Amino acid sequence: MADNTTIKDAVKARYQAVAQAQGASCCGSECCIPDASVTDISTGYSARELSQIPQEANLGLGCGNPTVLADLRAGEIVVDLGSGAGVDCFLAAQRVGERGRVIGIDMTDAMLERARENAHRGGFTNVEFRQGEIEDIPVDAGTADMVISNCVINLAPDKAQVFREIHRILKPGGRFCISDVVSKGTIPVAEREDMEKWAGCIAGSLPKEEYLDIVRRAGFVEIDVRSEVEYDYRKTDQYSLASVTVTARKSKGLA
Ligand SMILES: C[S@@+](CC[C@H](N)C(=O)[O-])C[C@H]1O[C@@H](n2cnc3c(N)ncnc32)[C@H](O)[C@@H]1O
Repeated sequence: MADNTTIKDAVKARYQAVAQAQGASCCGSECCIPDASVTDISTGYSARELSQIPQEANLGLGCGNPTVLADLRAGEIVVDLGSGAGVDCFLAAQRVGERGRVIGIDMTDAMLERARENAHRGGFTNVEFRQGEIEDIPVDAGTADMVISNCVINLAPDKAQVFREIHRILKPGGRFCISDVVSKGTIPVAEREDMEKWAGCIAGSLPKEEYLDIVRRAGFVEIDVRSEVEYDYRKTDQYSLASVTVTARKSKGLA
């Protein structure tokens, strides 16, 4: 398999280009959802949600709607992994209110720039964006009440490290709500090696059971697949892809 640096560079280049595109929107035939206007909670946002945040924050790159299932409470601290132009950060910010705080993490400079512009545009004072990788999250241990992420962890070559990091930054009893892409069947080796397909949320996807096993081994409890929708449009004879939204908790007794 391609080494981690090659994969990361390909992913970064893709999302740098998406963020820099004039009137950036869905990155073409291989972005994470086929139609950013859909309103099903497994694949998109309601018109009402979208009317409450800067229009430019939704680039149509997600595969779910984690804040709907996250059960966020006023005053909570939320970390969004792979925050893109900020769509889920702004939705979370409204739920946690002025006493709460949202921290978006992204490794791609142009995405961070867009997200910060959007925060300014929307007057969001309880949201900040930090440059960093989700394998080494720039957030102190035991800080977050909730971690969210939307169509990002499939892009990471070392998913076990990502979930260990999520576990580290959560408070005891803290939760995560993550939408991501998983695969069914076998993705051929040639496609797994194709960097366009990594960056397009295909080649890095794992079978659901393998994904959940990584979550379990990172120490999480109460793991629940809250939504699962198989995509028709990327089905081949060998494999298909599905969007899942998974919730879990860090044990209360763990520091
Ligand atoms: C498919 S987009 C999703 C963006 C956002 N969550 C949304 O739903 O619009 C993936 C985002 O994750 C970021 N990303 C991918 N891999 C990352 C990593 N290892 N560390 C930090 N950010 C990453 C990319 O820069 C990009 O902004």
